[in-house]
Amino acid sequence: MSDSVQDQYEAYPYPSRDPRDEHKRLITGSPSNLDELNHYLFAGRRDFAKPFRALVAGGGTGDATIMLAQQLADRCPEGEVVYLDLSTASRAVAEARAAERGLSNITFHSGSLLDLPEMGLEAFDYIDCCGVLHHLKQPEDGLDALKTVLKQDGGMGLMVYATHGRTGLYPTQDMLRALGNDLPLETRIEQVRRLLEALPPTNWLRRNPFLGDHKRSDAELVDLLLHSQDRAYSVEEVGEFVASAGLNLVSFIEPARYRPESYLKDPKLLTQLRDKSDLGRAGFAEKLAGNIKTHVFYVSRKDDCQAQPEPHGAAIPFLCRLENHVLAASLRKNPVLSVTFDGLPLRFNLPRLAAAMVERIDGKTTVAEIYASLAELDPHLERATFDQQFAQTYEVLNGVNHLLLRA
Ligand SMILES: C[S@@+](CC[C@H](N)C(=O)[O-])C[C@H]1O[C@@H](n2cnc3c(N)ncnc32)[C@H](O)[C@@H]1O
Repeated sequence: MSDSVQDQYEAYPYPSRDPRDEHKRLITGSPSNLDELNHYLFAGRRDFAKPFRALVAGGGTGDATIMLAQQLADRCPEGEVVYLDLSTASRAVAEARAAERGLSNITFHSGSLLDLPEMGLEAFDYIDCCGVLHHLKQPEDGLDALKTVLKQDGGMGLMVYATHGRTGLYPTQDMLRALGNDLPLETRIEQVRRLLEALPPTNWLRRNPFLGDHKRSDAELVDLLLHSQDRAYSVEEVGEFVASAGLNLVSFIEPARYRPESYLKDPKLLTQLRDKSDLGRAGFAEKLAGNIKTHVFYVSRKDDCQAQPEPHGAAIPFLCRLENHVLAASLRKNPVLSVTFDGLPLRFNLPRLAAAMVERIDGKTTVAEIYASLAELDPHLERATFDQQFAQTYEVLNGVNHLLLRA
């Protein structure tokens, strides 16, 4: 870890957060939503009535720490979160946020995640490490260090920058270094503003409408444009990175963004892709879409990877951030799901039975019970027809992160 990275986050804790906002909202997202990590890492079988230990490595100003701690406070009496970060200024913000919420299930540590193997911490069920590893001199060393404190059946939710969605950024970082790498940060911030004003219409950063973080505040601007150590990964490089630690890449989030079929409808071209590996197809999708700025993904220990839950039988499907009645009503009118990913509108067709299935997805009813309920209405409904249409519905809704399973 270079001192300049530490100095940057002491001067500009990232992301900028006001602890008083905890009274207005809880920041949520992926990874580290409890239901989501249960689905992807524990085959939907995790019982949160039992102890659960989470580490947030490079916790910054506390987004993941607060989200995890609040969920555990609500659902897991013996849940604990350990926060670790180099930046004491960031830690102060995270601690103040926890205090505003009255959360008492977090232990705060200052230090480098590279020192985790020697810190003597008890192993974790889950590790969140977002936006951190790509700032290390040797990201592989960071991932190895995290693995040393991960339980045998545990998993991690990671985020690293993605190459194509950051088009235009790295040449701009180079220009800003050329303008005076050693100048005080305040001066460099002013230089960024002047340079951005002067970018010609042909400049790739100016032409990339999806990189807008720097418009929010100085902390965001420094993090994006003046970082001293920052690299991005293609899907293939994520695969190599995860494999370097002997870990297993479980899934990217959202899965649909990593499927060529989400963007490409040409059957001849799709046929050519059919036999490619999952990673090869995901890499193709990333290049095709061009707008993936970060890769969020779950990894588990290779030897102990529990299969992801399958959408049939005793599995209990549940919707996230969508009401079943509302979605069912909309699908009854038009069996198409529309979503927009970073400026790109996508449409996914759903099968004939999707509305009736979604109506019955209430977080309590198993897939088998949903079939039984539909078969009561239509005695001719064959199980195979149901299974095929349920799998299709699951693929679309899970693909956009609206449908998960628990055992
Ligand atoms: C871009 S911020 C991300 C913060 C947080 N994970 C989030 O997603 O909001 C990166 C954070 O990683 C921390 N960091 C960088 N290198 C670290 C290391 N070796 N050990 C612990 N923290 C580190 C920085 O201090 C900074 O707070």
